Amino acid sequence: MIQKEYLNKIIQGDTLAVLKTLPDEIVDVGVTSPPYNKGENKKGWLVKNVKYSEATDKLPEDKYQKNQIDVLNEIFRITKPGGSFFYNHKIRWEKGQLLHPMDWLKQTKWVIRQEIIWDRMIAANIRGWRFWQVEERIYWLYKPEGRNLIGEELKPKHALLTSIWRFPPEQKNPHPAPFPLALPIRVIYSVMNEKKGVVFDPYCGSGTTLVAAKILEQDYIGIEISKEYVELSEDRLENYKSELKFAKEEMCKHVVLKTFKERKKLGEFTGRYGPRDKKRKITTDNQIEMNLFYYMKNEKS
Ligand SMILES: C[S@@+](CC[C@H](N)C(=O)[O-])C[C@H]1O[C@@H](n2cnc3c(N)ncnc32)[C@H](O)[C@@H]1O
Repeated sequence: MIQKEYLNKIIQGDTLAVLKTLPDEIVDVGVTSPPYNKGENKKGWLVKNVKYSEATDKLPEDKYQKNQIDVLNEIFRITKPGGSFFYNHKIRWEKGQLLHPMDWLKQTKWVIRQEIIWDRMIAANIRGWRFWQVEERIYWLYKPEGRNLIGEELKPKHALLTSIWRFPPEQKNPHPAPFPLALPIRVIYSVMNEKKGVVFDPYCGSGTTLVAAKILEQDYIGIEISKEYVELSEDRLENYKSELKFAKEEMCKHVVLKTFKERKKLGEFTGRYGPRDKKRKITTDNQIEMNLFYYMKNEKS
């Protein structure tokens, strides 16, 4: 049982130092977007420059990666067996060399359960050195419980949202690099479903993850170095009801219209799509139906 002193608080300080003070196995699910070590370059007119009020985002890359490995291993320690952590990052380039989050994730204790693509649809750099990079990545990291390296299955209404998530970046938040509320809502709602537990964000910025946790009636713990952002988060948490409609917009997407059994009972299509049914055109809508069909079929067998 976690002591109440840690719950529903934002601890101001350096993430690694604070993590070392927290007890083992207290977190059910975490979500974060750490500083990306992007060198604080000017980004142009399309998107805000990322410059935090009280932290630099400019470390030698080897030091940055070592710090992220240490942070992720500490998060592993404070997560319950069977718990998950969702780590938002992106592919970067330094002097032509590609820097991939897998470079350091594979050196941590976590099992990498999935790589999710976050399609932001817009991003800062529109120079033509590469195709316009409008995606980020979200890594679903899993802490095994005994010998179970896979964990529990998601409910179909969550799993059917697929591994490509399309949310535009947050625009109205004064923080320089917030993620949209829909992102932590999707994570927490999918993994916790009806369960209640403790949600964690070790770089909580403007408190988006914590607001999502509060809306979903979860306990939370946040860490953030900047006093200004801690105050911003506390303000958002107090006024969380004003963000309910954005949370509901996301939650409405978690739905299975009809199960295989229900379609069968109603005499609706339950057969195979695709090559055997050449006349049927695959549109986005029936692609989702098709996913659903295969999902339910596998569930039965
Ligand atoms: C990408 S932002 C997180 C934004 C957050 N997801 C949101 O929606 O507002 C990263 C945050 O990490 C904080 N930060 C940077 N270095 C830190 C450190 N060493 N310890 C704690 N927080 C740090 C920054 O102040 C910034 O708010």
